[in-house]
Amino acid sequence: MRRPAFLGGDPAFPDGLPFARPQVPPLEAVMSRLATSFEAGILTNGPLVRQLEEQAAERLGAHVVAVSSCTAGLMLTLRALDPSGPVVLPSFTFSASAHAVAWNGLSPRFAECDPLTFQLDVSDARGRLGGAGALVSTHVFGAPCRARAITDLAAAEGIPLVFDAAHGLGATHEGQAVGSFGDAEVFSLSPTKLVVAGEGGLVATRSPDLAEAVRIGRDYGNPGDYDTRFVGLNARLSELHAALALVSLGRLDAHLQARRRLARRYREGLAGLPGITPQVVPETDQSTYKDFTVTVDPDAYGMERDTLVRALAAEGIDTRCYFSPPAHRQRAYAYLGARSLPVTEEVASKVVSLPMYGDLATSAVDRVVEVMADLHAQAGLVSPAEAVVA
Ligand SMILES: Cc1ncc(COP(=O)(O)O)c(C=O)c1O
Repeated sequence: MRRPAFLGGDPAFPDGLPFARPQVPPLEAVMSRLATSFEAGILTNGPLVRQLEEQAAERLGAHVVAVSSCTAGLMLTLRALDPSGPVVLPSFTFSASAHAVAWNGLSPRFAECDPLTFQLDVSDARGRLGGAGALVSTHVFGAPCRARAITDLAAAEGIPLVFDAAHGLGATHEGQAVGSFGDAEVFSLSPTKLVVAGEGGLVATRSPDLAEAVRIGRDYGNPGDYDTRFVGLNARLSELHAALALVSLGRLDAHLQARRRLARRYREGLAGLPGITPQVVPETDQSTYKDFTVTVDPDAYGMERDTLVRALAAEGIDTRCYFSPPAHRQRAYAYLGARSLPVTEEVASKVVSLPMYGDLATSAVDRVVEVMADLHAQAGLVSPAEAVVA
């Protein structure tokens, strides 16, 4: 058995294995897509943005409005829906889900997640809905949350429902595309996502009225006559970003296939390893695998998550601990007062996302798995304090 790098062995990846690699299409393809708008001097919110919206709309079966980021899309969607009270949302999500609520002057009310899927715990959310004005749920790491059950919950309360679908373009829940649930679903096109624009987002909704409100909202609230109807933003998408996103969208299916194949490889490799449990994705659903995330049970695996992260770093393997700390533990939300969400806190203390991108080599996945097995086998030889920090 090889000697782990944190015990003085040679690193498994001397040149480093990155956590993510933006899946950029060939530059010439982006340039030729951009050329007509660029040469006509149309730099923002032009025909390429329109094409991107149309192609995404066709794929999702919804109206689509392109915006400058998922965060801005969430802010504008909530602004348009104008909830009448606090917004219930998971704490195990990226900060932007909660920030969009807070920027609208609304109070976030954090709910628990499921310990195996990491998705919003529907029955916990149900218990927190009294007097709530809206429900927001995230498709965590590209795996769909329980969108149908959550839709029923919001309908029973008569409140709007928004999905933070930042990671979810290409995912399906019970055979239905993520992007077609709730009042709206909002995607991110930032560099770590499967479809990239550089920066950008897509708001998908089946409501033409909501689509129109977001369309106006991304232009300061101005429908065209400069008499703004409400306080909007500049959240337009540029033609340059749209050109990149259009080429990237054309490669989405190949990219999904590659990530799903790599995720299967990780799952098979990690299957017998005590204490390492990949995110559970129900068989009826398809994840995008924006992230491949596992939990580390320190008793069964032999070391804490943070020690594993340091040991992997010593091997040259880059990882992330998304979403740790969870939103309700972040200083930005200290003003809400101390709250305890024990399941979320436990999940956040155990998760680690492993390297994942479309052109990650299968052999690299196998090597990461091997390293994790070796570390488990030799875990007793090292205390957390001895772990080498890369
Ligand atoms: C779950 C989630 N929501 C929202 C966002 C924000 O997306 P954007 O950077 O496009 O604003 C991110 C960013 O990665 C995210 O992970």
